[in-house]
Amino acid sequence: MTTYNHSLSQYITDLFAQHDKPLQVAWEETPKKGLPSISVKPEEGRFLQFLVKASGTTKALELGTLGGYSGIWIARGLSEGGKLITVEVDPRHAEVARQHFSNAGLFDQVEVRVGDAQLILPELVSDGPFDFIFIDADKPGYPDYYEWAVENTRIGGLIAAHNAFRGGKVLASQYSDELVEIMRVFNQRVAADPRVLSTVYPAGDGTIIAVRIS
Ligand SMILES: C[S@@+](CC[C@H](N)C(=O)[O-])C[C@H]1O[C@@H](n2cnc3c(N)ncnc32)[C@H](O)[C@@H]1O
Repeated sequence: MTTYNHSLSQYITDLFAQHDKPLQVAWEETPKKGLPSISVKPEEGRFLQFLVKASGTTKALELGTLGGYSGIWIARGLSEGGKLITVEVDPRHAEVARQHFSNAGLFDQVEVRVGDAQLILPELVSDGPFDFIFIDADKPGYPDYYEWAVENTRIGGLIAAHNAFRGGKVLASQYSDELVEIMRVFNQRVAADPRVLSTVYPAGDGTIIAVRIS
């Protein structure tokens, strides 16, 4: 029995998720420009691209843009003529992300909307239904974002939500941290939701993935 570990993660990254220039720029420049180092990992980004490609996505939505690293992966999985809308509350993050999308030649495929996802989501109903939604913003918002996502994803469409593991703390009952508890409840809720079929992609910090079935 093989245990997934850092070496195997690196093995996958080396084989499937190597950075080209634009990805490397987004990866390196995001922290250098003063933004937090909380982008998805390369293998997670590749997985997002895989999901987007496999689902034939033309309409993708991301909540939580940061410096655009995951957005580049997602946009690169879009079908011909597809578009990614990515929502970011911090104008500085949005500005950095726009530079990185432009540097990746994705200016026409990605629209960055600046504002609180809670306020922007009602405006996005008319842009849907979406084929793929990636939730990676504030954890307290996850229940609302997920509920909106299920209602605004087509049947057969995918919803992904990052940080299912909270660094492994979801397992440890001694952690009473509010954000850990939010993710525990969130994971239970998605797992029990009859409108979706779901599981967790266990690389990195864990990504909940759900396909809408009703
Ligand atoms: C974990 S980072 C996103 C990382 C990005 N998806 C990546 O992997 O490259 C979370 C981002 O969500 C943004 N954010 C936090 N609360 C938000 C909200 N209520 N609405 C929109 N964005 C929010 C933060 O400013 C931050 O840039």
